[in-house]
Amino acid sequence: MRVACLTGGGDCPGLNAVIRGLVRTVHNAGGETIGLLEGWRGAIEGNFIELDPMQTDEILPKGGTILGSSRTNPYKDATVVAKVVQSFKDLKLDCLVAIGGDDTLGVASKLYSDHQLPTIGCPKTIDNDLSSTDFTFGFDTCLNTVQDAVDKLRTTAESHRRVIVVEVMGRHAGWITCFSGIACAADAIMVPEEEVDLDVVCERLKQRRAAGKTYGIVMVSEGAKLKGDELTTKDGDIDEFGHVSLGGVGTRIAKLIEDKTGIETRDVTLGHLQRGGSPSAYDRVLGTRLGIHAGQLATKGDFGKMVALRGLHIVAVPLADAVHEMRTLPPSFMDEAREFLK
Ligand code: F6P
Repeated sequence: MRVACLTGGGDCPGLNAVIRGLVRTVHNAGGETIGLLEGWRGAIEGNFIELDPMQTDEILPKGGTILGSSRTNPYKDATVVAKVVQSFKDLKLDCLVAIGGDDTLGVASKLYSDHQLPTIGCPKTIDNDLSSTDFTFGFDTCLNTVQDAVDKLRTTAESHRRVIVVEVMGRHAGWITCFSGIACAADAIMVPEEEVDLDVVCERLKQRRAAGKTYGIVMVSEGAKLKGDELTTKDGDIDEFGHVSLGGVGTRIAKLIEDKTGIETRDVTLGHLQRGGSPSAYDRVLGTRLGIHAGQLATKGDFGKMVALRGLHIVAVPLADAVHEMRTLPPSFMDEAREFLK
């Protein structure tokens, strides 16, 4: 059996753990694995490297992906999709494991339904916004990075009696913001799922100062919106999957907080720092387990599925269900966080 894998979309810690788990499992079952380079671009152009258990054994602690990634979308053009189908034949593949977020997995799902290509999906994203899985690998490492950054920012906020607004990634889902807000004891948490009432936040910051707390930490999602406002975008750039590049809302909010409260305020955008670095132990284990289970599905010939975490176990779910809709933050998480936002 010859299995290909690729990593598409934004990189994240834990991708190499999946590759290692997959390669080992396929090898143990007597098969071989290749890695297509730079996401779907590698599938279109037929660019690949051979992967074996020895060579991939050392990659577990490495951040990013040894295969490279891109946001290439073969479905932008029907002739390009035909090239992917052709590469599949030329490379004599029995299965393709796509490791990615909703965009990458959406392509894998369509290749399965439109062209009966034997694809399998593995969910990846720091955003944790994929349906059908409890958590995506990359999310935990990202939270630890944000927590470490905010713990450092807190010392400056405290020394200078400032409010610091920290803008984090996550697109239109507030998982990173809410979880890191709880982990960092933030004074305000602004997620895309709830319109932000800045007057309420400013009143709280003033009350806390009056009560003796000399600084403030405000966590804001890049996709958060102020009441009656539009999304804040960087430059209006749209990627191949139609997503606009977000960013800048933290700067806007910091200025407004300073104006409304009179408290000196700064903002920090953590940006791509959040996708970098060596995966946490949790993400190494989750990535490895997902890779093993993707390998097992491949060798069993169980295609059109995505491996997913449900509770403590890795299960297989229909790929089409997983890419059906983005998973935003359920309200109960913000309800819990709100106990500390009064
Ligand atoms: O989906 C992962 C993510 O990091 C988002 O949180 C963020 O909005 C986006 O990717 C940034 O993409 P890029 O690396 O293309 O700027």
